[in-house]
Amino acid sequence: MKQIILLLTLLTTSHLFADIEKSKAVYAANCAMCHTVDGGNALGPDFNMVSYTRTKEAIANYAKDPDAHYKEFGYSANAMPTLPLKDEEFQNVADYINSLQPFKKWMIKKKP
Ligand code: HEC
Repeated sequence: MKQIILLLTLLTTSHLFADIEKSKAVYAANCAMCHTVDGGNALGPDFNMVSYTRTKEAIANYAKDPDAHYKEFGYSANAMPTLPLKDEEFQNVADYINSLQPFKKWMIKKKP
């Protein structure tokens, strides 16, 4: 029984890793020219910081339609293009950005 549980755990977690790899590729091909993930300085904000301050849903929505969301995000103009990606790819890239800060939930809970 223990072996079965171990096997199931391995299967489900390796699947998660594969998904993040796929999502990272969407980022690399479509966002990396304007957004760093290591605290760098490009045209758009660094995704490591974005991961702290935004929910996964907000990130996906913004990526899908920046024109509709730039005001509520605090920008006075939109400099980000609307990208021709599939819904699934926007979700994937939001998953990837969200995964950059795995302890976010814990930190948010710790806030006074
Ligand atoms: C041509 C450059 C460019 C590309 C490509 C680009 N962005 Fe942006 N993005 C920006 C800029 C610039 C901003 C800051 C808002 C503004 O000035 O329009 C921004 C803002 C954002 C924000 C809001 C960040 C925040 O918390 O304030 C998100 C989320 C975002 N981009 C996601 C993406 C994703 C995901 C991709 C790829 C699928 C992507 N962007 C591709 C330029 C780009």
